[in-house]
Amino acid sequence: MTSHRTPCPGAGTAAFHLRAGELWCEDVPVARLAERYGTPLYVYSGASIDERLATVRRAFGERATICYAMKANSNLAVLRRLHAGGAGFDLVSGGELRRLQAAALPTNQAVFAGVAKERWEIEAAVLAGILFFNVESLHELPLLAAVGCAHGKRLRVALRLNPDVDAGTHAYISTGKKENKFGVALAAAGDTVEAIARERWLQLVGYHVHLGSQLRSIDPYVQALDRVMAFVDGAAVRGREVTHYDLGGGFGIAYGQGEALDVGAVAAALLPKLQARGWQPVLEPGRYLVGDAGILVTRVLGEKSQGPTHFVLVDAAMNDLLRPALYQAEHAIVPVATTTAATREVDIVGPVCETGDFLGKRRQLPACRPGDLLAVLATGAYGASMASNYNTRRRPAEVMVDGNTARLVRARETFEQLMANEVDLHETFVA
Ligand code: LLP
Repeated sequence: MTSHRTPCPGAGTAAFHLRAGELWCEDVPVARLAERYGTPLYVYSGASIDERLATVRRAFGERATICYAMKANSNLAVLRRLHAGGAGFDLVSGGELRRLQAAALPTNQAVFAGVAKERWEIEAAVLAGILFFNVESLHELPLLAAVGCAHGKRLRVALRLNPDVDAGTHAYISTGKKENKFGVALAAAGDTVEAIARERWLQLVGYHVHLGSQLRSIDPYVQALDRVMAFVDGAAVRGREVTHYDLGGGFGIAYGQGEALDVGAVAAALLPKLQARGWQPVLEPGRYLVGDAGILVTRVLGEKSQGPTHFVLVDAAMNDLLRPALYQAEHAIVPVATTTAATREVDIVGPVCETGDFLGKRRQLPACRPGDLLAVLATGAYGASMASNYNTRRRPAEVMVDGNTARLVRARETFEQLMANEVDLHETFVA
């Protein structure tokens, strides 16, 4: 066996590479994983996750609190890995808090955002003890204060501001513009700060922004901070007790086209301004830490031509990876065993009964035979975490590779699990 490695076109990390034309993850051939665990299968590289976290840490320094946005991939093994590397967490639901607790991870470096939190979620977070709540709406203040009062605790909150900055990203994942539902518009934020200051059970410890996802330029980050600083300078009460600036997430990855966001450049642009104010940076990267670290492996079921289009039919579908259907996202798709055969243009589609069920359109692939394996790259973020059971399909298995060892970190769902909440129910209600 040769150990000569060549880069895999479209992969954002060297952990996924070719040896003798075969796709490997670290020191494991991807085909062996498909054989053992079946397909569709998510494969994660532990080393890539470590490496990305280290890159962010190097850029932002030891004083920064890196809160991994766990919505990107909330597998318990991924959470443990990031905690081991020194990350805290950005959560958006009581369910995500339960995941941290199930993984026996500390919550004291966790921030809790969300445009509308329920009382039980706030209570659970207060009991667990978190770094702070990210408040997004005026209506949350009485609720937070009531929970703080009930527990005899002054709750630490950061106010999420909506700085009306264009993140230059897909409309569905842009969050920092005035027409988006997130945060409090700067024009209304002064009143919100004063309302927090009047609440004895709340303490304003920071400001938060999150501009959107998959940003490729540092400019929106700089613009947002400048606007927040100008806002704070507008009245003394706005800066009192403020110790943190949470710049959100959104660090973009390459997806096989162009460059990832230069995280070092974001840090270089923001850190001097934050230091001058004595504000500690908090960041919430999700995709950047785990996106390139995962692939979705799928098996070819057959091919067909219809009109002008040649379709490759595979066993993964929009329920396993929603991004192409929902955001027209383009993920590189490569054969697990490369050949020198001529390529032709194909659409790679799944078995789900929707025309929107595609993994890739107008791609160049060599002829495939049933049983061949394809890998959909850069699917470690918002892949498994957005998977569903549509068409009563079981969500995929997930494995984590570490060197030459792979570990099953999520078993493929069973049909019994899918139907467990619908059988043997003896509950009726007569109105
Ligand atoms: N912080 C907040 C408040 C967020 O809402 C998000 C993502 C993040 C951090 C992490 O953003 P990231 O660093 O991963 O870009 N499902 C979409 C992305 C939705 C992002 C939602 N919020 C996708 O597949 O592209």
